[in-house]
Amino acid sequence: MVHTRVVDLRELLADEADRAVALWEECGLTRPWNDPRADLFRALSGETSTVLAAAEAGQLVGTAMVGHDGHRGWVYYLAVSPEHRRSGVGRGLMTACERWLNDHGAPKVQLMVRQGNTSVVAFYQALGYTDQETLVLGRFLDPELERRRRAGAGGHD
Ligand SMILES: CC(C)(COP(=O)(O)OP(=O)(O)OC[C@H]1O[C@@H](n2cnc3c(N)ncnc32)[C@H](O)[C@@H]1OP(=O)(O)O)[C@@H](O)C(=O)NCCC(=O)NCCS
Repeated sequence: MVHTRVVDLRELLADEADRAVALWEECGLTRPWNDPRADLFRALSGETSTVLAAAEAGQLVGTAMVGHDGHRGWVYYLAVSPEHRRSGVGRGLMTACERWLNDHGAPKVQLMVRQGNTSVVAFYQALGYTDQETLVLGRFLDPELERRRRAGAGGHD
């Protein structure tokens, strides 16, 4: 029988920032050239973005950052703690992101999967996501950040 956990899905509270960043580190989502705490508070304070939380008995067990750029919706920092996986928490967070984007007028949701994290593709495919056959190009506007990203063996976002 598939066990679906009952979790509370809501916006992340500011005092949960440390736990959220620890979860992102545990899930391998942070990179040395990004400041995850700054990312988190920028998303929480912006009108076009937020961070959603999955909590069980008041304890943070998952997150997803969601926002739109006036054209498309984007999801970042989707993370479920290892001991809470495969019980519907990730699916619930993605559904909450999609609902948030729909409520904010974004017609489409997109996300980036880092090369080397291909095992997660099966999760997104199970939710109906498909390869958009798009190569993502980018660079940091701050040359020092761009230098650090390149020194850190590439990657994106
Ligand atoms: C990806 C992640 C958020 C999935 O969370 P989760 O709570 O385990 O996902 P769910 O239980 O909601 O899974 C929904 C469906 O996706 C599929 N799925 C989930 N994880 C999978 C995996 N590792 N391999 C294959 N299919 C998977 C299954 O079809 C699953 O349904 P099932 O439980 O009936 O089999 C979690 O594995 C995670 O935090 N990974 C590390 C961080 C990460 O890589 N984030 C994404 C960055 S792009």
